[in-house]
Amino acid sequence: MIKQRILITGALGQLGVSLIRVLSKRSDTYILATDINAPKEEIDVDFECVNALDTNRLEELIVQQKIDCIYHLAAILSAKGEKNPFQSWHVNVNSFQVTVELAIKHKVQRVFWPSSIAVYGEDKNPINAPQQVDMNPLTMYGVSKLACEKLMIYYHQKFNLDIRSLRLPGVLSSDPAGGGTTDYAVEMVQAVKNGKDYTCFLAPQTELPMIYIDDVVIAIEQLMESNLSNQERAHSYNIMGFSLTPAMLESQLHKMGYPAEVHYAPDYRQQIAESWPRTIQDQFARDHWGWAPQFDLEKSIKQMTP
Ligand SMILES: NC(=O)c1ccc[n+]([C@@H]2O[C@H](COP(=O)([O-])OP(=O)(O)OC[C@H]3O[C@@H](n4cnc5c(N)ncnc54)[C@H](O)[C@@H]3O)[C@@H](O)[C@H]2O)c1
Repeated sequence: MIKQRILITGALGQLGVSLIRVLSKRSDTYILATDINAPKEEIDVDFECVNALDTNRLEELIVQQKIDCIYHLAAILSAKGEKNPFQSWHVNVNSFQVTVELAIKHKVQRVFWPSSIAVYGEDKNPINAPQQVDMNPLTMYGVSKLACEKLMIYYHQKFNLDIRSLRLPGVLSSDPAGGGTTDYAVEMVQAVKNGKDYTCFLAPQTELPMIYIDDVVIAIEQLMESNLSNQERAHSYNIMGFSLTPAMLESQLHKMGYPAEVHYAPDYRQQIAESWPRTIQDQFARDHWGWAPQFDLEKSIKQMTP
């Protein structure tokens, strides 16, 4: 018996493919995955090619499939977004608006939308950045995520929309990353694992918060299933697994017996990374819905290098 009917936007990205792997194992859940691109390999759930800005087509699907939960993942990430900031704002903010408007109109019970540590800025590379602080993001990606964090609170207060959010750090996974400033970590592991040298676009000592993908999926499931008070819902919750520099990752890979060399050639992404916190506080998530990471760096790399 199907209890929940989920629509996912941007479902073929780094987060979406892992989320689908886990959600598709639930026997009581129907999943409709959507993305602007078609899948390169077969996926286990229904799929439709849809632009997340296409209100009419999304509305048809929500009605036809009696969708009661939306995971809105479609976005243009930080590094890619800086190449076309107007497009980045357009996709990130307007697709959020489309999702929220349809969710309110069709009384969708719950929405998940991920924000990012890119919302931080101004204070150069702070350690242990608090959940709430003045934020002046450097990138259009960060500006668009911060705008949507504010919109999320607005729609929650105005329409009682149950929209839940994580403010994610860089994500490590075996699946390719999609154009963010922390992608170096996924790329370095893939290259070194295959015996290839890697040239890193960040400097060796650039420290950023990271998380392993399985922890992200666990956190999404926990957050979506929690009984949160009204006040607790209106957060984009900071979570992190561990802090990482490219040099630490290189040394961990060498320790695990991978001999390939890493070279360093920082580019425009270095400035973005330096505007983000080195570590973030995730106490709100721990206190409100029991968040606790299960993967440290070593365990994450072992998963990525079976
Ligand atoms: N991966 C990370 O490190 C990270 C960190 C913080 C937040 N996030 C957020 O998590 C979400 C998913 O990120 P990801 O890492 O899977 O990104 P990704 O780039 O790997 O995937 C995004 C997906 O969205 C799709 N997409 C882009 N524009 C679209 C449109 N107009 N309509 C429909 N689909 C479209 C792309 O084809 C892609 O499959 C995003 O909102 C991102 O901002 C990711």
